[in-house]
Amino acid sequence: MCAGVLDPDGRALGCERGHRFDLARQGYASLLAGKATAHRSDTAQMVAARARVFGAGLYDPIVTAVAQKVSSPRLPLTGDSPLIIDAGGGTGSYLSSALDRAPGATGVSIDLSKFCARAAARAHPRIVSVVADVWAGLPVCSGVADAVLSVFAPRNVADTARVLADGGRWVIVTPNPGHLAEVVGPLGMLRVGEGKQDRLSADLAAAFDVVSADRVTARRRLDTAQLADVAGMGPAGFHRSRSEIEADAGALARGGQVEVTLDVTVTLARRRSG
Ligand SMILES: C[S@@+](CC[C@H](N)C(=O)[O-])C[C@H]1O[C@@H](n2cnc3c(N)ncnc32)[C@H](O)[C@@H]1O
Repeated sequence: MCAGVLDPDGRALGCERGHRFDLARQGYASLLAGKATAHRSDTAQMVAARARVFGAGLYDPIVTAVAQKVSSPRLPLTGDSPLIIDAGGGTGSYLSSALDRAPGATGVSIDLSKFCARAAARAHPRIVSVVADVWAGLPVCSGVADAVLSVFAPRNVADTARVLADGGRWVIVTPNPGHLAEVVGPLGMLRVGEGKQDRLSADLAAAFDVVSADRVTARRRLDTAQLADVAGMGPAGFHRSRSEIEADAGALARGGQVEVTLDVTVTLARRRSG
């Protein structure tokens, strides 16, 4: 990308140097250019599973905790029209909830998956949805963002620091080892390693001050289909078929429900000045 400012140009976005990115019928713009990225993005099946999980409210405690960190009466977003960016935004569920609490704000959902971009474009009238690779840089001007969300998603620390205004907030969700621990083994999901929070603190140290790091836990009773969705919407969805996951989920639930734990840390960091 040439980093020029993009303006609407008919059914496309264009910059002064003549680069154009068409707007898809489904309401998003793909800003991927040149060689295909080496990173994997969520598939249609993974995104459908994720949408069902959010639709059923299974992750509501985390969604609410994130929205409260973005904007709360104690720590409101300032300015007339704040900008909130969700990097690796998935279906746009977290960003939608944050926008509901910030009436004048605009949201930008960035995801490598066109299936996520479609879902995010539909999720809220104030979401601008783009397909882009966060490792290639966030497609946003420097110092303009009031908040960035990174929820179970890749974190480009240097570029997040670039796009945030001084004092801007970064809300990060990381899973703890106890997250979905009851089903990780039986459903062939990836284990969460110890020390994630320490690594996060080290990553943030150069440009951010950590304001708070709150553990959010909840218990949920999931049936076979919901177990398969929770497993299939994550990395297991890349290496296991839906029918494999469903067979294991069925064996676990035996026609009933299984109680699982949600266990994450929601970190709020502020961009230091300068
Ligand atoms: C585990 S999902 C989390 C999605 C969403 N934040 C949520 O929690 O529902 C990770 C997301 O990051 C996206 N992603 C992975 N690599 C990416 C990259 N390099 N650039 C942009 N998005 C990426 C995936 O497509 C996926 O939607």
